[in-house]
Amino acid sequence: MAMSIVFVGLHPIVVVLACALISLATVLIHRVFFASLSRIPGPKITALTQLWIMYHEFKGDRTIQIDKLHSRYGPVVRVSPVEVSFNNYESLREIYGIKSTFSKSSFYDLFVYYNTRNTFTSLDKPNHSAKKRLVADRYTKSYVMQPSVADKVRGHASAFMKQVSSQGPVLDVYTWLHYYALDSITNHLYGIYGTQTLSAPEHRGIVYDLSGVKHRARLYMLHYFGWAMSLKTQLVSIMRKISGQSTAFHVRGNRLNDYGEVSVSSFRRDQTTKDTISTCSKLFNQIPNNEPAIAAECMDHLVAGVDTTGDAMCILMWRISTPEYTHVQDMLFQELSSIKDAFDPLTRTAPITALDKLPYLDAVIHEAMRWRPPVPMTLFRIVPPTGAVISDHVIPGGTTVGCQAYSLHRVEEVFPNPDLFDPTRWLTEDAAHLTAMRNHFWPFSSGGRMCLGHNLAMVEMKLIVAAVYMHYKTRVTPGVTEESMRMDDQLTSGVPHALSCSLDFVAR
Ligand code: HEM
Repeated sequence: MAMSIVFVGLHPIVVVLACALISLATVLIHRVFFASLSRIPGPKITALTQLWIMYHEFKGDRTIQIDKLHSRYGPVVRVSPVEVSFNNYESLREIYGIKSTFSKSSFYDLFVYYNTRNTFTSLDKPNHSAKKRLVADRYTKSYVMQPSVADKVRGHASAFMKQVSSQGPVLDVYTWLHYYALDSITNHLYGIYGTQTLSAPEHRGIVYDLSGVKHRARLYMLHYFGWAMSLKTQLVSIMRKISGQSTAFHVRGNRLNDYGEVSVSSFRRDQTTKDTISTCSKLFNQIPNNEPAIAAECMDHLVAGVDTTGDAMCILMWRISTPEYTHVQDMLFQELSSIKDAFDPLTRTAPITALDKLPYLDAVIHEAMRWRPPVPMTLFRIVPPTGAVISDHVIPGGTTVGCQAYSLHRVEEVFPNPDLFDPTRWLTEDAAHLTAMRNHFWPFSSGGRMCLGHNLAMVEMKLIVAAVYMHYKTRVTPGVTEESMRMDDQLTSGVPHALSCSLDFVAR
């Protein structure tokens, strides 16, 4: 009544505008002073609006900005009116632990391929468990370490070494390591239909689509403004249908779509190959009549296995090729020399069983992924409808929460001097400290949704790092700088800003 008196005699447009302003002010005042998340530490702007975090997402420095917030406000920080970031082991266990009931957020819808959810994109526990059960045994340590599997990866490491000899002395390891990662994962997935990008150019376009361009802006547009983007997608689908191509949508482009589809259907047609090792063979055995689900599952492993592993190896080689860290190469060489007889002179590689026993090699790989995790950003989860208490903070149901590896790996009490690249920190004999480091080491996530491919990734990394540093010293070339290699957030990886890293290979 009082309100309507105030508006008497005003033009209707003015009344509408005034009402809109009052409503907006009410929402904002509620967010800043009364909403449950207003009591979580953080700058006022993040209580007021999501625009601040969106700005940093589009800019590519979300991870760094959240890290700065943790340095300033502590382990629990509000990053938007609907999201809280946590940075301690206690929260990590609560959100991602094996008993967690936090589901994945709709953010993961961006990675649904062939219109079918796969292990990675299943949001809730029952769906996820059913999908994961179909393929998990292909990625256990004992499975990927057996010669019939690991020797295939070794073959790709050998192909990489051949390229170093023939293309060298300068090689863009960013690109060539992504070729290596693609060949390793696709041969594990599709058997004889895997790629051979290291030795033949045919499928190199796939690596370009995955790792040679930045998809960040387009993917965030899809995430936030999907309704507007879907019109364009529909048009592209129609055009592809007219030209007789697959119409399934792939956020990384159609070459990947087509390759994934063709590989799976070729595999089905040609089951006479009696391949029993690949992921595809297992899936055809389990769900023989569901080709879209097989293609979707394999495509996810492909995408998950290229940028991550490729970036990890690239960052490692770059870091130890800069003048302040080249001593790491010498220590690697010293350790590798202790098993020099295990190296085959023809392929210049050693069997994974021998490499897996080397503590310094393991420490260098751990340190590279600690110092610059390939997936440095928040892994979004949604608080169950009943709400939760995380790290002594009451968080309402439906809130987006998460931890980010980049910040967990910089918790000063666990990793003193965290910006120093120091593999020897992993060789400590202080058991309690080592346990604390392992608890905070999170490049592959943890719990029920931990990376499925981490054992395969470790095999790939150990084989290549050993082969290179047994035979070469590497040095950065002039264009490779801290700036060109700085972390540039995409949606699910933190890529080197320049998307290239040319190193000089000097034979030992
Ligand atoms: C250094 C290399 C790798 C890193 C750092 C890495 C990291 C991760 C991380 C952080 C997650 C959790 C994602 C989330 O919860 O949003 C994940 C999940 C996953 N990764 Fe990896 N990954 C690597 C290599 C691979 C490879 C080679 C494969 C090949 C199979 C793979 C397959 C998967 C799958 C299928 C999931 C989903 C697991 C699930 O939801 O149960 N990853 N990875």
